[in-house]
Amino acid sequence: MKARPLKNYLLAPGPTAVPAEVLLQIASPTIHHRTPEFEKIVSGVREQLKEVFATTQDVIVLAASGTGGMEAAVTNTLSPGEVVLCVNAGKFGERWLNICRTFGLEVEELRVEWGRPVEAGAVESALRRRPEIRAVLVQASETSTAVLHPIEAISRLTRAHDTLLLVDGITAVGVTEMPMDRWGIDVLVSGSQKAFMLPPGLAFIALSERAWRASESAKLPRFYFDLRRERDNLHKNTTAYTPAINLMYGLSCALGMMLEEGLPAIFARCDRLMRATRAGAQAIGLELVAKESPSPAVTGVFTPPGLDGGAIQKYLRYALGVEVAGGQDQFKGKILRLAHLGFTGDFDVITVLAALELALSRFGAEIAFGRGVGQAQTILAEALPPAAPQG
Ligand SMILES: Cc1ncc(COP(=O)(O)O)c(C=O)c1O
Repeated sequence: MKARPLKNYLLAPGPTAVPAEVLLQIASPTIHHRTPEFEKIVSGVREQLKEVFATTQDVIVLAASGTGGMEAAVTNTLSPGEVVLCVNAGKFGERWLNICRTFGLEVEELRVEWGRPVEAGAVESALRRRPEIRAVLVQASETSTAVLHPIEAISRLTRAHDTLLLVDGITAVGVTEMPMDRWGIDVLVSGSQKAFMLPPGLAFIALSERAWRASESAKLPRFYFDLRRERDNLHKNTTAYTPAINLMYGLSCALGMMLEEGLPAIFARCDRLMRATRAGAQAIGLELVAKESPSPAVTGVFTPPGLDGGAIQKYLRYALGVEVAGGQDQFKGKILRLAHLGFTGDFDVITVLAALELALSRFGAEIAFGRGVGQAQTILAEALPPAAPQG
């Protein structure tokens, strides 16, 4: 008989755990999408998404993973040969570069050491050096390095230089403040399997007025991802093509849950879980990947020197039932990424830190059990409700 953990905990930075209420909605019988019943769902989701994106613009839902949303951001706003500035500070920054090069854009690459946020000053220098830069493309939260980039500061620069700002908010929207209209973000992209507590399969994308104007003259090829067509359909509470109907049931439910908790409360929760995870990891003796500007979606930790991060990740998965992410590319086998976005609460942090203590001790590290957990608890205690009995 093969020993298996009794329970599994999905604590990777996507896909993230899906609440039972949402799963039950997704399991409802599929209805036809060209019906008033489905249009009602689209109409509700439309308004809810605007709140989450903090915009008065339409937020378009695509049946695609997040990368589809990134591709749509590029093809709907740019033309062949135009110059773009791509911040490359990790795996997902590289993806912006790859998409732009695939579509024949001239890429000015702004390389940043993995584990560090881009400096707004470096963006400014690039914009001064090449005034023809048509757009700046950046992650809000670079999931591969667990770093948050300074989007508000960059948005001040792109507005001053009359340059478009395309933001991959895939692990930032619904995790931390990312007010699209207030900050003047031109394109904001996210995906269902992150803060939205859904399975993968939906991308969300919103365009500013300036970006919609750009979409009228943009010459890159687009068909499935032609957002003008989607917007026209959305105004009739429908979609251009067959939508991911059951995921839309789930989206309606998940957005309801998010707005009931309230965005400020969600942001505070993710921030608290991040601080607890970081403090716990440091108490275990682990080095943090992001020394400054950490992402409230995910914490990256270096595994102790001499230990194989990949083997520890597998042990966490198969022996303990705790799914965290490993490192990619230059961080492969060297780091673990512990998520705290979406349907993640205080005891998920305790679980992941306790599992890490157990796994590391199994791999020969000197671990004082409970030290990481205890340190995390001191931070989680900040948000304890009053002691009066509740009922
Ligand atoms: C910041 C960021 N950008 C892009 C992606 C790619 O999204 P997808 O895998 O849904 O295409 C991810 C996925 O982890 C991500 O975290």
